[in-house]
Amino acid sequence: MKVAVLGLGRVGAVAAACLAEAGHRVLGIDVDPRRVRSLQKGRADFFEPGLDQLLRVVLAAGALSLKRLDEMDRLDAEVTLIAVGTPSLPSGGPDLSSVRAALGWLVERALRPPLVLMKSTLPPGTGQSLRDQYRLRYVANPEFLREGQAVHDWRQPDRIVLGGGDRRDIRLAQQLYANLEAPFVITDIATAEMIKYAANAFLCTKISFINEIANLCDHLGADIDDVVAGIALDPRIGPSFLRAGIGYGGPCFPKDVRALGYLSALNGYSCDLLRATISVNNHQRLLPIQALRQGLGVLSGREIAILGLAFKPDTDDIREGPALEIVRLLLAEGARVRAYDPMVRKGEALPEGAVMAPSAQEALAGAQALVLCTEWEEFSRLDWESIRHTMLPPYLVFDGRNALRPEGLRRLGYHYVGVGRGRGRNEKAAGGHRRDWAWSAGLGRLVE
Ligand code: UGA
Repeated sequence: MKVAVLGLGRVGAVAAACLAEAGHRVLGIDVDPRRVRSLQKGRADFFEPGLDQLLRVVLAAGALSLKRLDEMDRLDAEVTLIAVGTPSLPSGGPDLSSVRAALGWLVERALRPPLVLMKSTLPPGTGQSLRDQYRLRYVANPEFLREGQAVHDWRQPDRIVLGGGDRRDIRLAQQLYANLEAPFVITDIATAEMIKYAANAFLCTKISFINEIANLCDHLGADIDDVVAGIALDPRIGPSFLRAGIGYGGPCFPKDVRALGYLSALNGYSCDLLRATISVNNHQRLLPIQALRQGLGVLSGREIAILGLAFKPDTDDIREGPALEIVRLLLAEGARVRAYDPMVRKGEALPEGAVMAPSAQEALAGAQALVLCTEWEEFSRLDWESIRHTMLPPYLVFDGRNALRPEGLRRLGYHYVGVGRGRGRNEKAAGGHRRDWAWSAGLGRLVE
């Protein structure tokens, strides 16, 4: 099938490469000349495991070609995927200007009435009105790709959601995905759009729920790891998305729950659960500041190390991650901040006043406290014994992702604080019966 992909960011580039891999003839188009040049060389301008390798294969096979938007006169494609950004406006609603620009361009340049598959996240009801306004053949086709696992998620989706009113168009969309083994969920446009928001809002709510329970554990002397172990074995609950910490971030979750809240307010409905989800998430980012104030007194002039800036491991994306906000709060208190992230290396990523260290060891040397913001695997494998000798008292470790082993660190002389890990009160009582979440051996897997 002749396919065009408009927008070659984290979703569009993966879509273009994977559709080419599936045997379609794919043309990827983007407005950003640097991005296109880099993709033409088989190198995405962001880190996504497995993507560059796949790009090189499909480019060499001639299955994928890449062009700048201004190079294109006419577009000849049976299906066009739109994968442009819908960032938040100050109101909380999404900015649809890139989607509108892409559709306007497509309508002008398409050689035949194009079938649009909308990958960009649009508020329920928007697709229908865009379809009518631009007189399009239109199928809402939300994406569920996780950064860091996007190629895998494309190849092995849980479901493919197609929302549209025309059976032939839905069938054509199904043919596009014929190589994938996944159930199709076929709905109208607004419902498909709502599925995307509901999925993200549910996952955020799960995270805020477990964070609230973790906060209660801290107050009541219970241990969140054991609580999760105890509830996750109930198949109605399951183990996923129950990792307590400093909260969710990234380019999708915060934006999408905000947009849903904005839409509900616009329609005169108060989404109380969503508001609570957002409020718990905002609160989690303050936990390290509270812990550091408790452990160090005033923060002015204190040396603080930050490990991890990406909003989660296996990505270089820092958008709306808790780490940068924590750095800003620490700087505002007068602390001296040195940060390290294995994938985020450029100093510009940090707020003015903070310093980027070339390694975890160098971020930690001379620091009185550490805040771990991203559970990169390399952090759990650091030589914490020798690092302890390079740090200064009180050797405070705030583990914002519950990724380190509290007992081991305490034995080495660190003052360990996790999220919902009982702040040490339970340590002895739990003794040898403790269970640990094996972050490094596949997140969410429970081991004795
Ligand atoms: C998320 C969804 O998981 C995808 O299905 C969706 O397609 C995507 O948003 C999107 O809307 O495009 P992503 O933002 O890549 O994907 O990240 P997740 O792996 O879902 O994690 C999001 C945040 O939640 C991270 O900051 C992570 O640290 C946090 N999180 C996740 C927790 O704090 N606890 C958990 O148990 C799980």
